Amino acid sequence: MLSGKTILLGITGGIAAYKICELIRMYKRANAEVLVVCTPNALNFVTKLTLQNLSKNPVAVEEFDIKDFNPEHISYADRADIMVIAPATANTISKISQGICDNLLTSIACAFTKPVIIAPAMNCNMWENPIFQENLHKLHYEILEPESGYLACGYEGKGRLCSLDKIFDKTVELLTYKPLNGKKIVITSGGTIEDIDPVRYISNYSSGKMGLALADTAKNLGADVTLITTKDVSHKYNVVKVKSALDMKSAVEKEFENSDCIIMAAAVADYRVKEVYPQKMKKTSDDEITITLVKNPDILKELCDRKKTSSSAPLIVGFCAESENLLENAKEKISKKGCDFLIANDISRKDIGFSSDYNEVTILDKNGEVKKLERAYKRTIAREIFKVIYG
Ligand SMILES: Cc1cc2nc3c(=O)[nH]c(=O)nc-3n(C[C@H](O)[C@H](O)[C@H](O)COP(=O)(O)O)c2cc1C
Repeated sequence: MLSGKTILLGITGGIAAYKICELIRMYKRANAEVLVVCTPNALNFVTKLTLQNLSKNPVAVEEFDIKDFNPEHISYADRADIMVIAPATANTISKISQGICDNLLTSIACAFTKPVIIAPAMNCNMWENPIFQENLHKLHYEILEPESGYLACGYEGKGRLCSLDKIFDKTVELLTYKPLNGKKIVITSGGTIEDIDPVRYISNYSSGKMGLALADTAKNLGADVTLITTKDVSHKYNVVKVKSALDMKSAVEKEFENSDCIIMAAAVADYRVKEVYPQKMKKTSDDEITITLVKNPDILKELCDRKKTSSSAPLIVGFCAESENLLENAKEKISKKGCDFLIANDISRKDIGFSSDYNEVTILDKNGEVKKLERAYKRTIAREIFKVIYG
């Protein structure tokens, strides 16, 4: 099943490290090449000898134990098709999320541009620690959440390593399931920024996380991805940084002819300032000031209109954010805009949507079909969205 694939298996210093011996056997039975890299602390829980025997490869631990001219963290990152970190400690997750590279495993993770699966395991209070959660969700990896139950530390709660079958199945899926191979997918994300003067602007609360989840997922599913975004992202696909709605419009238009699908997940401002002040506006003695706004182009509508007359027409997917009457408003919007799919978000809820790592959406297609996706990680939602639009 995994012939010709190389898995870089990172093991960190958690009690669940002993279970990973069996995962190596599962990968080997599927004919994968397994390269094991351990943090020094992992070797308190499992021996190099065991890992070496099972993987049939030397186990890498020391960053400065360089065999040839090529440092290990680069050659390992180049050789592997996927990196799986299991178990992943709170310590290692937080370090990778902050860009810290203080051992071989964290250095490899920083240099790794292919898919990464992370399977955290820890005490339930560590798992719930808000600083840790923030660090975890900064990572654009496939996160296999721990399970709840009796923990080795004596507590009961969420923190047990997920099943090895789950890690194995996700590895196979990411290595072999590429339904978007050969497709060029363009995704927009983030809220546009409309200048008032050189120091002030109008924007919105969009974090860009849904667009990023779509881009990461499309890439993992084999697509050639272009992300047009107002946010700073350093990623392994083509990123076009834009600021205003007008910038976004011209960037998207440039991609139109050569794309198979355009997903407009960005929150584009409906209005911009009519005349941007060239200098900082001074405070005056008046209690009120008036800034005139003018309508921005409706990028989604224009793309849909262009599609009607174009010979090479991409699939067009819009997003709409509603704070009331979600379905009614979404139905009206899809018929007005004419896009192939519309993904409706309820922005009145605090536990999903803007800035959250979770979402719950309703997908509408132009034939009136409606599918609701229950609350889940944005990456899970992204995967489901691609399932719906590409079948
Ligand atoms: C017996 C024992 C079990 C531990 N189990 C875990 C664990 O399951 N998850 C975790 O995040 N940390 C665990 N720790 C703490 C980590 O070992 C510690 O944070 C260490 O710095 C992790 O290093 P590493 O991330 O470089 O491997 C455990 C520590 C001990 C002494």
